[in-house]
Amino acid sequence: MIILESIEQLQTHLNGIRQKGKTIGFVPTMGNLHAGHIQLVKTAKKNTDCVVVSLFINPTQFSANEDLASYPRTLQHDIDKLQAVNTDVLFTPNNEMIYPRGGENTSHIHVPELTTLHCGAARPGHFDGVTTVVTKLFNITQPNLAVFGEKDFQQLAVIRRMVADLNMPIKIIGEPIVREADGLAMSSRNGYLSTEQRALAPQLKKILDEIQQAISQGNKDYPSLEDKAKLMLKEKDFKPDYFTICQADSLARANTSDTQLVILAAAFMGSTRLIDNLTINTK
Ligand code: PAJ
Repeated sequence: MIILESIEQLQTHLNGIRQKGKTIGFVPTMGNLHAGHIQLVKTAKKNTDCVVVSLFINPTQFSANEDLASYPRTLQHDIDKLQAVNTDVLFTPNNEMIYPRGGENTSHIHVPELTTLHCGAARPGHFDGVTTVVTKLFNITQPNLAVFGEKDFQQLAVIRRMVADLNMPIKIIGEPIVREADGLAMSSRNGYLSTEQRALAPQLKKILDEIQQAISQGNKDYPSLEDKAKLMLKEKDFKPDYFTICQADSLARANTSDTQLVILAAAFMGSTRLIDNLTINTK
């Protein structure tokens, strides 16, 4: 694996790859890699000749009261994990390279509609930071294909919409959520949980399962199911942020006639915000 820090070094390297007629796969990350991230790399490896993983903790997607300063930085651990799956290139730019004029003064990409919902409502500006950095990384890397996780279901939908709206010539692949043995979706933020909180955290997936089952059995009273889920979350020491049964495409609240659904959930366990989701096909 080659580790490159500068945009110029990466572009020179990738120009050589393209000249040989090889395809490029891209996996953007913020590091502290776990099996979920590695699954994305494996899928990129299967589909392209040269896989580039970026590691950049993007300041513009964190708001002032969020965990930018404490976000886990584990470079050597990340390098070892990427090497184990034969990643071709690790790109580790710094803030000055990505935002030479500062994040505030950089042109940005805004995806309307989808970004006003759910995590977009709870974290104003978050998705503008994501779409801006992903566009910059796409332009720097010019991949044929990029892989994102369904763990961040709304992020994946926003990226797909951006790529379609702006005619970006990049195929987007979504990978299913990789979970711990007890069902908790893997996340860099799980490391913030105390032992007691970690023991309760899998309840988020259990409650999603229960609501999914009720819907599969024909219950279409979505508002009541959402209220019930929020109550169950509170009983397990969560502070629910949102728990919404949505249309899988638009992410708008589901109507009883919709068949492709996703349940999106975000809840605080102490000060740690966990997100998870489950898709349902009721056809
Ligand atoms: P990060 O949280 O590091 O996640 C990088 C990618 O890994 C995302 O596509 C995310 O959905 C995926 N991922 C995380 N946990 C996963 C799991 N348990 N199963 C499957 N995939 C998982 O998402 C970001 O970084 C940033 O917003 C980024 C896109 C890099 C832009 O800064």
